[in-house]
Amino acid sequence: MSFATLTPFLLLGLLALPGCFTNKGHQGERLYGQHCASCHGEQGEGIGQLVPPLAGSDYLARHPGQLACIVRQGLKGPIVVNGVAYNQLMLGVQDTTTHRKLSPAQITNLLNYIETHWGNHPGPAGARTIAGTETELHACGER
Ligand code: HEC
Repeated sequence: MSFATLTPFLLLGLLALPGCFTNKGHQGERLYGQHCASCHGEQGEGIGQLVPPLAGSDYLARHPGQLACIVRQGLKGPIVVNGVAYNQLMLGVQDTTTHRKLSPAQITNLLNYIETHWGNHPGPAGARTIAGTETELHACGER
């Protein structure tokens, strides 16, 4: 086989490579795209008066210890995000393929992604750990 005939296969191999190296950061980004972006937007921008933003959200920054529970149990009732009042309903997020709750590990990666993008910052404890997420979940009766 000549090099020219091999080239397409080499290229395909290169394209497939990143799949072998998926890391936690990528899982968080993927989970965000699957479970949150439809409402909160690809860049966390939200939807007008209906869905609050996650990008630069002061609510997010002020409630670092409740985010895992918000993912699991959702949120309803009046809140104020960056000076805008919302009174909507967010249901707890389930895995779309397994219809199970997101695991502590999935929630950890997802929240680490959100807290390191769009101008957001990790909480005072720094990057989340699975143990930290489990502690948060226990506090709201989840496991
Ligand atoms: C079906 C639409 C929908 C989906 C999907 C959704 N949310 Fe929400 N989210 C909302 C709405 C609506 C509110 C405001 C609830 C209220 O008014 O009390 C909200 C509020 C929030 C808040 C608190 C306010 C803020 O903007 O900081 C956070 C944090 C949050 N969502 C995170 C997430 C994460 C993480 C995911 C994905 C795992 C997600 N949401 C998926 C609709 C959604």
